[in-house]
Amino acid sequence: MSFDLVLFGGTGDLAWRKLMPALFQAFRHGSLPEGGRIIGVGRDDHSDDQYRSLIQSRFDQVELSKRPSADEFNRFAQLLHFVRMDLSQPDDYPHLAHMLKSRNADTVVMYVATAPSLFTSVCEHLAAVGLNTPNTRVVLEKPLGHDLASNRAINEAVRRVLSEDQIFRIDHYLGKPSVQNLFALRFGNSLFEPLWRRETIANIQITIAEDIGVEKRGAFYDTTGALRDMVQNHALQLLCAIGMEPPINAHADAIRDEKLKVLRSLAPWTAQTLSQHVVRGQYTAGTIAGTPQVGYRNEAGVSSNSSTETFVALRTEILNWRWAGVPFYIRTGKRLAGRDAHIVVNFRPTPHPIFPTPAGCANRLVINLQPKDGLELHLLAHGSSNRLTPTGWGQQPLSPVQLDLDFDTRFGTERVGAYERLLLDVIAGHLNLFVRSDEQEAAWRWVEPILASWQTDHKEPRPYAAGTWGPSASSAMIARDGFCWGEES
Ligand code: BG6
Repeated sequence: MSFDLVLFGGTGDLAWRKLMPALFQAFRHGSLPEGGRIIGVGRDDHSDDQYRSLIQSRFDQVELSKRPSADEFNRFAQLLHFVRMDLSQPDDYPHLAHMLKSRNADTVVMYVATAPSLFTSVCEHLAAVGLNTPNTRVVLEKPLGHDLASNRAINEAVRRVLSEDQIFRIDHYLGKPSVQNLFALRFGNSLFEPLWRRETIANIQITIAEDIGVEKRGAFYDTTGALRDMVQNHALQLLCAIGMEPPINAHADAIRDEKLKVLRSLAPWTAQTLSQHVVRGQYTAGTIAGTPQVGYRNEAGVSSNSSTETFVALRTEILNWRWAGVPFYIRTGKRLAGRDAHIVVNFRPTPHPIFPTPAGCANRLVINLQPKDGLELHLLAHGSSNRLTPTGWGQQPLSPVQLDLDFDTRFGTERVGAYERLLLDVIAGHLNLFVRSDEQEAAWRWVEPILASWQTDHKEPRPYAAGTWGPSASSAMIARDGFCWGEES
């Protein structure tokens, strides 16, 4: 099967950091269909060879095991081409059209890794030169819009020229091996399903902590913030994977229908829940792993009196029969104490304890997403002491123990990465791990009241020192329900 993959934003940050390394890995693993071209598009004037050299130089920043040898790069480079275009200029598109039509590949993928403000016009210009034939697929990077209205406007404009099954809205979290395993845990095993409900589960916590700051994206981040950057997409997709009903099969729409139901069942915000169940934070100077870090307002590209949030913690519920009354907590932030994404499923304590049990030690399942990938099942057991207490059997306190499944050890750390999997899925036309427009709209509809409340309350985000786990209000929020955040390493 021949393919052309056109990378709008071919000299941008995402292309260097994620897409080219992922395409190279797919090439190295022999998973990239033969007879493909990867066509970078950008405003600079590069020949194919100059573009190839640029990409080769950028591989220096990729981790060692993922860098090509000179020979590997030479073979990969044969796939790479470059086209200079100003995407806002309709006159720049016919040349691309000619280049693609003269080859007439089986599949043409347009990966739009640009500012979202260009999504609509790029799709319209492509259609104007006939580049919206049924073998065309368009990949749209997040953020897709800034709010519900802008998201809808993009979706409507793109659907005027392409059908829904040609549109691949990417959320790279869905491509992570650990997230594949979350689906496998729930829908490939019967063990947990009877327990996966309000009667047995006390609460669920989703944490996506990053130790990095805004890096070179200060200007973008300052108009975006953690709610739009992480919660509206990645965190809510994780919440869907945890909370959804088993789909009737593994087809894309069966999965997406169930995720959509979760998004539509999220508790609507009220003035009270907005003030008590949402915490907004911003990092100040601090230290991470011994290295001093500047505060957010001193980052390049960030306004010196910015009130953009770099941390969000919130509590919600899924209002359906399975979950009513079970709190779901989400917490994400930059410049936290470590890079750590995990989900903790806290089970209810035994209904009637007959053994002394250490405080706070009910059963829990920890789904580690990154940097570790695996499962931990925390149980209670009689300890290893070979000396009976004078008070006899039943009086001895139970000890916490855990079953530990480490997927990195079991399957190796060199598994297919998120972008590699997702790019291969686009080329193959599999929509399972991509987000449908109605899911995105439901997610925006749910986060909008939070954004609106922040605009009107005129409060500053709560400060937290870089290298901590966020503002203390986040722990206070969860403590009001009688719980605490689990697994802070
Ligand atoms: C991106 C966000 O979508 O996800 C970034 O825009 C964030 O701000 C990144 O750093 C996190 O992805 P990962 O795969 O490193 O957890």
